[in-house]
Amino acid sequence: MSSLDGARVVLGVTGGIAAYKAVEVSRRLVDSGAHVVPVLTEGAEHFVGRTTFDALASEKVQTSLWDEESPIPHTLLGQSADLIIVAPATARLLSDYRVGRSADLLTTTLIATAAPVLLAPAMHTEMWEHPAVQENLDVLDGRGVHIVPAEPGRLAGGDIGFGRLASPRTIVAHAERVLSTQDLAGNHVVITAGGTSEAIDAVRVISNRSTGKQGYALAEAAWARGADVTLISTVDREPPIGVTVVSVESAAEMEKAVMSVNNADVIVMAAAVADFRPADPKGHKIKKSGGGVPEIALEKTHDFLVDLGENKPGGQVLVGFAAETENLIDNAKAKLAKKKLDLIVANDVSAPDVGFAHDTNAVTILVSDGTQTEVTLDSKRVIADAIFDAVVRVQTTLP
Ligand code: CTP
Repeated sequence: MSSLDGARVVLGVTGGIAAYKAVEVSRRLVDSGAHVVPVLTEGAEHFVGRTTFDALASEKVQTSLWDEESPIPHTLLGQSADLIIVAPATARLLSDYRVGRSADLLTTTLIATAAPVLLAPAMHTEMWEHPAVQENLDVLDGRGVHIVPAEPGRLAGGDIGFGRLASPRTIVAHAERVLSTQDLAGNHVVITAGGTSEAIDAVRVISNRSTGKQGYALAEAAWARGADVTLISTVDREPPIGVTVVSVESAAEMEKAVMSVNNADVIVMAAAVADFRPADPKGHKIKKSGGGVPEIALEKTHDFLVDLGENKPGGQVLVGFAAETENLIDNAKAKLAKKKLDLIVANDVSAPDVGFAHDTNAVTILVSDGTQTEVTLDSKRVIADAIFDAVVRVQTTLP
Protein backbone atom coordinates (compact mmCIF):
# COMPACT_ATOMS: atom_id res chain seq x y z
CA MET A 1 0.00 0.00 0.00
CA SER A 2 1.30 3.45 -0.90
CA SER A 3 2.23 5.74 1.97
CA LEU A 4 0.09 8.32 0.14
CA ASP A 5 -3.03 6.24 0.68
CA GLY A 6 -5.32 8.25 2.97
CA ALA A 7 -2.81 11.13 3.30
CA ARG A 8 -4.10 14.69 3.19
CA VAL A 9 -1.91 16.50 0.67
CA VAL A 10 -2.01 20.23 -0.02
CA LEU A 11 -0.86 20.69 -3.63
CA GLY A 12 0.39 24.23 -4.12
CA VAL A 13 0.71 25.47 -7.70
CA THR A 14 2.56 28.68 -8.50
CA GLY A 15 2.70 30.76 -11.66
CA GLY A 16 5.05 29.10 -14.11
CA ILE A 17 4.57 27.52 -17.52
CA ALA A 18 5.02 24.09 -15.90
CA ALA A 19 1.78 24.64 -13.91
CA TYR A 20 -0.07 22.45 -16.42
CA LYS A 21 1.99 19.47 -15.22
CA ALA A 22 0.58 19.95 -11.72
CA VAL A 23 -2.70 18.62 -13.10
CA GLU A 24 -0.99 15.28 -13.74
CA VAL A 25 0.64 15.41 -10.29
CA SER A 26 -2.82 15.89 -8.77
CA ARG A 27 -4.28 12.97 -10.74
CA ARG A 28 -1.43 10.64 -9.76
CA LEU A 29 -1.73 11.62 -6.09
CA VAL A 30 -5.46 10.89 -6.17
CA ASP A 31 -4.76 7.56 -7.92
CA SER A 32 -2.39 6.69 -5.04
CA GLY A 33 -5.22 7.25 -2.56
CA ALA A 34 -4.29 10.75 -1.37
CA HIS A 35 -6.87 13.43 -0.50
CA VAL A 36 -5.64 16.36 -2.60
CA VAL A 37 -6.38 19.96 -1.61
CA PRO A 38 -5.31 22.24 -4.47
CA VAL A 39 -4.07 25.74 -3.65
CA LEU A 40 -3.32 27.97 -6.63
CA THR A 41 -1.53 31.30 -6.47
CA GLU A 42 -2.87 34.22 -8.46
CA GLY A 43 0.01 33.70 -10.89
CA ALA A 44 -0.84 30.02 -11.39
CA GLU A 45 -4.32 30.96 -12.59
CA HIS A 46 -2.73 32.73 -15.57
CA PHE A 47 -1.37 29.37 -16.71
CA VAL A 48 -3.97 26.80 -15.73
CA GLY A 49 -7.70 26.92 -15.07
CA ARG A 50 -9.11 26.20 -11.64
CA THR A 51 -11.92 24.14 -13.21
CA THR A 52 -9.42 21.45 -14.18
CA PHE A 53 -8.21 21.07 -10.59
CA ASP A 54 -11.77 21.34 -9.25
CA ALA A 55 -12.62 18.31 -11.38
CA LEU A 56 -9.54 16.20 -10.70
CA ALA A 57 -8.51 16.97 -7.10
CA SER A 58 -10.41 15.93 -3.97
CA GLU A 59 -11.60 19.43 -3.09
CA LYS A 60 -12.29 22.69 -4.87
CA VAL A 61 -9.38 25.01 -5.57
CA GLN A 62 -8.52 27.61 -2.94
CA THR A 63 -6.58 30.70 -3.88
CA SER A 64 -7.20 33.38 -1.33
CA LEU A 65 -7.02 33.96 2.40
CA TRP A 66 -10.50 35.43 2.19
CA ASP A 67 -12.67 32.89 0.37
CA GLU A 68 -13.08 30.27 3.09
CA GLU A 69 -15.84 29.78 5.64
CA SER A 70 -13.62 28.86 8.58
CA PRO A 71 -12.82 31.62 11.10
CA ILE A 72 -9.12 30.62 11.13
CA PRO A 73 -8.55 30.05 7.43
CA HIS A 74 -4.90 31.07 7.26
CA THR A 75 -3.68 28.22 9.47
CA LEU A 76 -6.29 25.55 8.81
CA LEU A 77 -4.80 24.04 5.67
CA GLY A 78 -1.28 23.83 7.04
CA GLN A 79 -2.39 22.36 10.36
CA SER A 80 -4.47 19.58 8.84
CA ALA A 81 -2.03 18.56 6.08
CA ASP A 82 0.10 15.39 6.18
CA LEU A 83 2.24 16.76 3.34
CA ILE A 84 2.52 19.96 1.35
CA ILE A 85 3.81 19.78 -2.21
CA VAL A 86 4.55 22.85 -4.30
CA ALA A 87 4.85 22.03 -8.02
CA PRO A 88 5.97 24.06 -9.79
CA ALA A 89 7.73 26.24 -7.22
CA THR A 90 8.85 29.53 -8.78
CA ALA A 91 11.88 31.57 -7.75
CA ARG A 92 9.50 33.94 -5.95
CA LEU A 93 7.92 31.13 -3.93
CA LEU A 94 11.37 29.91 -2.84
CA SER A 95 12.34 33.41 -1.80
CA ASP A 96 9.10 34.11 0.10
CA TYR A 97 9.25 30.75 1.86
CA ARG A 98 12.88 31.21 2.82
CA VAL A 99 12.30 34.56 4.50
CA GLY A 100 8.93 33.57 5.96
CA ARG A 101 6.89 36.10 4.01
CA SER A 102 3.21 35.19 4.09
CA ALA A 103 2.20 36.80 0.83
CA ASP A 104 -0.85 34.70 -0.02
CA LEU A 105 -2.74 31.55 1.02
CA LEU A 106 0.00 29.21 -0.21
CA THR A 107 2.93 30.89 1.55
CA THR A 108 0.80 31.31 4.67
CA THR A 109 0.00 27.61 4.60
CA LEU A 110 3.70 26.77 4.22
CA ILE A 111 4.61 28.89 7.20
CA ALA A 112 1.74 27.63 9.35
CA THR A 113 2.51 23.93 9.01
CA ALA A 114 4.45 21.28 10.88
CA ALA A 115 3.90 18.83 8.00
CA PRO A 116 6.75 17.85 5.69
CA VAL A 117 7.12 20.07 2.61
CA LEU A 118 8.22 18.93 -0.85
CA LEU A 119 9.20 21.59 -3.38
CA ALA A 120 9.57 20.92 -7.11
CA PRO A 121 11.18 24.08 -8.52
CA ALA A 122 10.91 25.08 -12.18
CA MET A 123 12.24 28.20 -13.88
CA HIS A 124 14.43 29.40 -16.71
CA THR A 125 18.08 28.31 -16.64
CA GLU A 126 19.36 31.84 -15.90
CA MET A 127 17.06 32.10 -12.90
CA TRP A 128 17.81 28.54 -11.73
CA GLU A 129 21.56 29.25 -11.83
CA HIS A 130 21.30 32.59 -10.05
CA PRO A 131 23.17 32.47 -6.72
CA ALA A 132 20.12 33.86 -4.90
CA VAL A 133 17.95 30.96 -6.07
CA GLN A 134 20.61 28.36 -5.29
CA GLU A 135 21.20 29.90 -1.88
CA ASN A 136 17.47 29.86 -1.14
CA LEU A 137 17.35 26.17 -2.09
CA ASP A 138 20.38 25.42 0.12
CA VAL A 139 18.84 27.19 3.10
CA LEU A 140 15.49 25.44 2.64
CA ASP A 141 17.26 22.10 2.21
CA GLY A 142 19.16 22.77 5.43
CA ARG A 143 15.85 23.32 7.21
CA GLY A 144 14.69 19.84 6.19
CA VAL A 145 12.49 20.91 3.29
CA HIS A 146 12.46 18.15 0.64
CA ILE A 147 13.42 19.26 -2.84
CA VAL A 148 12.86 17.46 -6.15
CA PRO A 149 15.59 19.03 -8.27
CA ALA A 150 14.74 20.67 -11.58
CA GLU A 151 15.92 18.74 -14.64
CA PRO A 152 17.51 19.60 -17.98
CA GLY A 153 15.19 19.81 -20.97
CA ARG A 154 12.94 22.02 -23.08
CA LEU A 155 11.76 25.21 -21.39
CA ALA A 156 9.17 27.86 -22.22
CA GLY A 157 9.84 29.87 -25.39
CA GLY A 158 11.75 26.98 -27.02
CA ASP A 159 14.87 27.32 -24.86
CA ILE A 160 16.72 24.20 -23.82
CA GLY A 161 18.53 24.09 -20.49
CA PHE A 162 18.36 23.32 -16.79
CA GLY A 163 15.32 24.33 -14.79
CA ARG A 164 12.57 22.09 -16.15
CA LEU A 165 10.06 20.73 -13.65
CA ALA A 166 10.73 17.09 -12.68
CA SER A 167 8.20 14.69 -14.18
CA PRO A 168 4.90 14.13 -12.32
CA ARG A 169 5.96 10.48 -11.83
CA THR A 170 9.19 11.66 -10.16
CA ILE A 171 7.41 14.19 -7.95
CA VAL A 172 4.85 11.64 -6.75
CA ALA A 173 7.58 9.02 -6.08
CA HIS A 174 9.40 11.61 -3.93
CA ALA A 175 6.13 12.42 -2.13
CA GLU A 176 5.66 8.75 -1.37
CA ARG A 177 9.23 8.54 -0.05
CA VAL A 178 8.72 11.58 2.21
CA LEU A 179 5.70 9.90 3.83
CA SER A 180 7.24 6.40 4.07
CA THR A 181 9.00 5.05 7.11
CA GLN A 182 12.72 5.57 6.50
CA ASP A 183 13.78 2.30 8.11
CA LEU A 184 16.27 1.54 5.30
CA ALA A 185 17.90 5.00 5.35
CA GLY A 186 21.68 4.74 5.15
CA ASN A 187 21.49 1.25 3.65
CA HIS A 188 22.85 0.25 0.26
CA VAL A 189 20.36 -2.29 -1.07
CA VAL A 190 21.22 -4.43 -4.10
CA ILE A 191 18.38 -6.19 -5.91
CA THR A 192 18.53 -8.51 -8.92
CA ALA A 193 15.57 -8.77 -11.27
CA GLY A 194 14.43 -10.74 -14.31
CA GLY A 195 15.45 -13.98 -15.94
CA THR A 196 18.91 -14.38 -17.40
CA SER A 197 19.42 -15.23 -21.11
CA GLU A 198 22.10 -17.73 -22.07
CA ALA A 199 23.37 -17.66 -25.64
CA ILE A 200 22.89 -20.67 -27.92
CA ASP A 201 24.33 -18.79 -30.88
CA ALA A 202 24.57 -15.22 -32.15
CA VAL A 203 20.76 -14.81 -32.27
CA ARG A 204 19.17 -17.43 -29.99
CA VAL A 205 19.03 -17.70 -26.21
CA ILE A 206 17.71 -19.99 -23.48
CA SER A 207 15.76 -17.99 -20.92
CA ASN A 208 12.87 -18.35 -18.47
CA ARG A 209 9.48 -16.82 -17.73
CA SER A 210 10.63 -14.17 -15.23
CA THR A 211 9.62 -10.59 -16.18
CA GLY A 212 11.36 -8.75 -13.33
CA LYS A 213 8.13 -7.29 -11.87
CA GLN A 214 8.86 -8.49 -8.33
CA GLY A 215 12.46 -7.20 -8.49
CA TYR A 216 11.30 -3.76 -9.70
CA ALA A 217 8.64 -3.61 -6.96
CA LEU A 218 11.39 -4.43 -4.43
CA ALA A 219 13.56 -1.63 -5.81
CA GLU A 220 10.70 0.90 -5.58
CA ALA A 221 9.90 -0.17 -2.02
CA ALA A 222 13.55 0.00 -0.87
CA TRP A 223 14.03 3.49 -2.32
CA ALA A 224 10.76 4.72 -0.79
CA ARG A 225 12.03 3.44 2.59
CA GLY A 226 15.16 5.54 2.29
CA ALA A 227 17.75 3.15 0.82
CA ASP A 228 20.33 3.78 -1.89
CA VAL A 229 19.29 1.14 -4.40
CA THR A 230 21.22 -0.68 -7.13
CA LEU A 231 18.99 -2.78 -9.37
CA ILE A 232 20.82 -5.36 -11.48
CA SER A 233 18.32 -6.21 -14.17
CA THR A 234 17.93 -8.29 -17.31
CA VAL A 235 14.70 -6.58 -18.38
CA ASP A 236 14.02 -3.40 -20.29
CA ARG A 237 11.44 -1.67 -18.07
CA GLU A 238 11.14 1.98 -17.07
CA PRO A 239 13.75 2.46 -14.30
CA PRO A 240 12.22 3.06 -10.87
CA ILE A 241 12.71 6.65 -9.66
CA GLY A 242 15.88 7.20 -7.65
CA VAL A 243 17.30 3.76 -8.41
CA THR A 244 20.60 3.00 -10.18
CA VAL A 245 19.96 0.34 -12.81
CA VAL A 246 22.74 -1.93 -14.12
CA SER A 247 21.70 -3.87 -17.24
CA VAL A 248 22.91 -7.43 -17.71
CA GLU A 249 21.84 -10.44 -19.79
CA SER A 250 23.52 -13.68 -18.75
CA ALA A 251 24.14 -15.35 -15.38
CA ALA A 252 27.86 -14.63 -15.80
CA GLU A 253 27.21 -10.90 -16.39
CA MET A 254 24.84 -10.78 -13.43
CA GLU A 255 27.44 -12.49 -11.23
CA LYS A 256 30.08 -9.92 -12.22
CA ALA A 257 27.71 -7.00 -11.52
CA VAL A 258 26.59 -8.41 -8.14
CA MET A 259 30.15 -9.21 -7.05
CA SER A 260 31.18 -5.59 -7.67
CA VAL A 261 28.67 -4.50 -4.95
CA ASN A 262 28.85 -7.58 -2.70
CA ASN A 263 29.57 -5.49 0.40
CA ALA A 264 26.08 -3.92 0.28
CA ASP A 265 24.01 -3.81 3.48
CA VAL A 266 21.21 -5.85 1.93
CA ILE A 267 21.26 -8.10 -1.16
CA VAL A 268 17.99 -9.50 -2.50
CA MET A 269 18.47 -12.11 -5.21
CA ALA A 270 15.03 -11.92 -6.82
CA ALA A 271 16.33 -12.78 -10.31
CA ALA A 272 15.61 -16.12 -11.92
CA VAL A 273 19.20 -17.04 -12.71
CA ALA A 274 19.67 -19.83 -15.27
CA ASP A 275 20.93 -23.06 -13.76
CA PHE A 276 22.19 -24.37 -17.09
CA ARG A 277 23.63 -22.73 -20.20
CA PRO A 278 24.83 -23.97 -23.59
CA ALA A 279 28.35 -25.28 -23.10
CA ASP A 280 29.58 -24.08 -26.47
CA PRO A 281 27.64 -21.01 -27.69
CA LYS A 282 28.29 -20.33 -31.37
CA GLY A 283 29.45 -16.87 -32.42
CA HIS A 284 27.44 -17.12 -35.64
CA LYS A 285 23.81 -18.06 -36.37
CA ILE A 286 23.32 -21.83 -36.58
CA LYS A 287 21.83 -22.31 -40.06
CA LYS A 288 18.79 -24.51 -40.66
CA SER A 289 20.08 -25.14 -44.14
CA GLY A 290 23.24 -26.61 -42.64
CA GLY A 291 21.73 -30.06 -42.16
CA GLY A 292 19.96 -31.88 -39.31
CA VAL A 293 18.81 -30.62 -35.90
CA PRO A 294 21.60 -29.28 -33.69
CA GLU A 295 22.20 -30.84 -30.33
CA ILE A 296 22.84 -28.31 -27.60
CA ALA A 297 25.00 -29.59 -24.76
CA LEU A 298 24.38 -27.75 -21.48
CA GLU A 299 26.65 -27.02 -18.56
CA LYS A 300 25.84 -25.76 -15.07
CA THR A 301 26.10 -22.05 -14.34
CA HIS A 302 27.88 -20.97 -11.21
CA ASP A 303 25.56 -20.45 -8.22
CA PHE A 304 26.93 -17.15 -6.99
CA LEU A 305 24.36 -16.86 -4.21
CA VAL A 306 26.35 -19.67 -2.56
CA ASP A 307 29.51 -17.51 -2.86
CA LEU A 308 27.67 -14.53 -1.37
CA GLY A 309 26.55 -16.70 1.57
CA GLU A 310 30.08 -18.10 2.12
CA ASN A 311 31.69 -14.65 2.15
CA LYS A 312 28.95 -12.60 3.77
CA PRO A 313 30.35 -9.49 5.49
CA GLY A 314 29.22 -8.87 9.07
CA GLY A 315 25.96 -6.95 9.28
CA GLN A 316 24.79 -7.84 5.78
CA VAL A 317 21.32 -9.30 5.25
CA LEU A 318 21.28 -11.78 2.37
CA VAL A 319 17.94 -12.70 0.83
CA GLY A 320 17.28 -15.46 -1.71
CA PHE A 321 14.18 -16.51 -3.58
CA ALA A 322 13.05 -20.10 -4.01
CA ALA A 323 10.87 -20.50 -7.09
CA GLU A 324 9.22 -23.88 -6.63
CA THR A 325 6.45 -25.93 -8.16
CA GLU A 326 6.37 -28.63 -5.42
CA ASN A 327 7.42 -29.13 -1.76
CA LEU A 328 7.59 -25.35 -1.37
CA ILE A 329 8.55 -25.01 2.28
CA ASP A 330 10.92 -27.99 2.47
CA ASN A 331 12.78 -26.95 -0.69
CA ALA A 332 13.00 -23.35 0.49
CA LYS A 333 14.28 -24.40 3.94
CA ALA A 334 16.98 -26.53 2.29
CA LYS A 335 18.12 -23.58 0.13
CA LEU A 336 18.07 -21.22 3.13
CA ALA A 337 20.50 -23.49 4.98
CA LYS A 338 22.66 -24.58 2.02
CA LYS A 339 23.19 -21.05 0.72
CA LYS A 340 23.73 -19.59 4.24
CA LEU A 341 21.01 -16.97 3.74
CA ASP A 342 19.40 -14.76 6.36
CA LEU A 343 16.03 -15.20 4.77
CA ILE A 344 14.43 -16.83 1.79
CA VAL A 345 11.23 -15.96 -0.02
CA ALA A 346 9.41 -19.16 -0.93
CA ASN A 347 7.37 -18.67 -4.08
CA ASP A 348 5.02 -21.34 -5.40
CA VAL A 349 5.16 -20.28 -9.06
CA SER A 350 2.59 -22.91 -10.08
CA ALA A 351 -0.24 -21.31 -8.02
CA PRO A 352 -2.83 -19.13 -9.84
CA ASP A 353 -1.89 -15.40 -10.16
CA VAL A 354 1.41 -16.06 -8.40
CA GLY A 355 4.99 -15.60 -9.61
CA PHE A 356 6.33 -15.02 -13.12
CA ALA A 357 4.68 -12.27 -15.20
CA HIS A 358 1.76 -11.67 -12.80
CA ASP A 359 1.17 -8.32 -11.07
CA THR A 360 0.38 -10.26 -7.92
CA ASN A 361 2.31 -12.72 -5.80
CA ALA A 362 1.95 -14.83 -2.65
CA VAL A 363 4.97 -15.92 -0.64
CA THR A 364 6.20 -17.41 2.60
CA ILE A 365 9.16 -15.59 4.15
CA LEU A 366 11.44 -17.97 6.04
CA VAL A 367 14.06 -16.51 8.37
CA SER A 368 17.19 -18.39 9.45
CA ASP A 369 16.05 -18.19 13.12
CA GLY A 370 13.10 -20.42 12.18
CA THR A 371 10.38 -17.78 12.00
CA GLN A 372 8.00 -17.99 9.10
CA THR A 373 5.61 -15.35 7.70
CA GLU A 374 2.97 -16.10 5.10
CA VAL A 375 1.95 -13.22 2.83
CA THR A 376 -1.26 -14.00 0.97
CA LEU A 377 -2.05 -12.96 -2.61
CA ASP A 378 -1.42 -9.25 -3.06
CA SER A 379 0.36 -6.77 -5.34
CA LYS A 380 4.08 -7.31 -5.83
CA ARG A 381 4.66 -3.99 -4.07
CA VAL A 382 2.87 -5.22 -0.93
CA ILE A 383 4.93 -8.43 -1.07
CA ALA A 384 8.09 -6.29 -1.46
CA ASP A 385 7.26 -4.27 1.65
CA ALA A 386 6.59 -7.47 3.63
CA ILE A 387 10.04 -8.73 2.59
CA PHE A 388 11.70 -5.50 3.74
CA ASP A 389 9.74 -5.61 7.02
CA ALA A 390 11.41 -8.99 7.58
CA VAL A 391 14.83 -7.63 6.49
CA VAL A 392 14.56 -4.76 8.98
CA ARG A 393 13.56 -7.22 11.75
CA VAL A 394 16.62 -9.36 10.95
CA GLN A 395 18.85 -6.25 11.00
CA THR A 396 17.81 -5.53 14.58
CA THR A 397 19.04 -8.98 15.64
CA LEU A 398 22.46 -8.75 13.97
CA PRO A 399 25.50 -8.07 16.13
N1 CTP B 1 20.76 -18.33 -7.83
C1 CTP B 1 22.01 -17.80 -8.09
N2 CTP B 1 22.81 -18.32 -9.07
C2 CTP B 1 22.41 -19.38 -9.79
C3 CTP B 1 21.14 -19.96 -9.53
C4 CTP B 1 20.34 -19.39 -8.55
O1 CTP B 1 22.40 -16.83 -7.44
N3 CTP B 1 23.19 -19.85 -10.73
C5 CTP B 1 19.90 -17.73 -6.78
C6 CTP B 1 18.57 -17.21 -7.27
O2 CTP B 1 18.62 -15.85 -7.63
C7 CTP B 1 17.65 -17.42 -6.07
C8 CTP B 1 18.26 -18.62 -5.36
O3 CTP B 1 19.59 -18.78 -5.88
O4 CTP B 1 17.69 -16.33 -5.17
C9 CTP B 1 17.50 -19.91 -5.57
O5 CTP B 1 17.33 -20.14 -6.94
P1 CTP B 1 16.42 -21.32 -7.44
O6 CTP B 1 16.46 -21.38 -8.95
O7 CTP B 1 15.06 -21.27 -6.77
O8 CTP B 1 17.12 -22.59 -6.82
P2 CTP B 1 18.38 -23.41 -7.25
O9 CTP B 1 19.44 -23.19 -6.23
O10 CTP B 1 18.72 -23.16 -8.66
O11 CTP B 1 17.87 -24.93 -7.02
P3 CTP B 1 16.84 -25.83 -7.90
O12 CTP B 1 17.19 -25.64 -9.32
O13 CTP B 1 17.14 -27.20 -7.39
O14 CTP B 1 15.45 -25.37 -7.54
